[in-house]
Amino acid sequence: MSNTDEKNIHHGEPEIDELTKNRFLGGHEYDGIRELDNKLPSWWVWLFIITVVFSAVYLLGYQVAGWWPSQKAEYEKEMAQLAEMKKSAPQNNVDVATMLPLADAASLDAGKETFKKICSTCHGMNGQGLVGPDMTDEYWIHGDSLNNKVTIQDLYKVVITGVLEKGMISYKDQLSPVQIQQVLSYIISLQGTKPAGAKAPQGRKYDKFG
Ligand code: HEC
Repeated sequence: MSNTDEKNIHHGEPEIDELTKNRFLGGHEYDGIRELDNKLPSWWVWLFIITVVFSAVYLLGYQVAGWWPSQKAEYEKEMAQLAEMKKSAPQNNVDVATMLPLADAASLDAGKETFKKICSTCHGMNGQGLVGPDMTDEYWIHGDSLNNKVTIQDLYKVVITGVLEKGMISYKDQLSPVQIQQVLSYIISLQGTKPAGAKAPQGRKYDKFG
């Protein structure tokens, strides 16, 4: 190339080809190929400026001033909301093995509602018994006679499997485990209420119940 000489190669100053008007960067030549000193397109420059501004705002907003919550804070907030939701809506998975009767008013009310709607047809509006046995006395058909006690687990089994030959279906698909726990807790709360028209005792008497 005509305008390449030792002096310019190491000079560092841009140099203009008179013919093509190309600007060359001094000092950048490899195997006779020279680097052009073109102006950067303005869209590129602007993109670069925007990323710089963005990163400054990002750094300030997230790391320094805390204008916006960090990912960790957002995660913790959502987990707290979830815990809140779980508290107000009873979980659908209950551990039957460790199940105990519920005693809070909300659960008993929910159980009562289920009882009146479904179970009362056979067990009576007040649990006094009709086709099905009286739920308010100390006599039970499906207790644990070996240990002389009736637990919520024993009753849970009856509701889950049903006693088809006697006319009680399984409520496994109609009621969630929690709903069954609630309705049984309500039944347990009826113990000793002596409703009018109570059916004659069925099964055997148990000393421990609930
Ligand atoms: C169609 C009638 C019918 C309906 C509805 C019904 N049951 Fe029963 N239930 C029976 C009969 C009959 C028995 C007695 C079964 C036996 O003799 O083994 C029984 C027994 C029971 C027992 C065992 C009682 C004992 O003495 O051991 C429980 C607990 C029970 N039902 C709960 C419920 C619940 C809870 C509901 C509502 C979700 C319900 N039942 C709805 C007819 C019914």
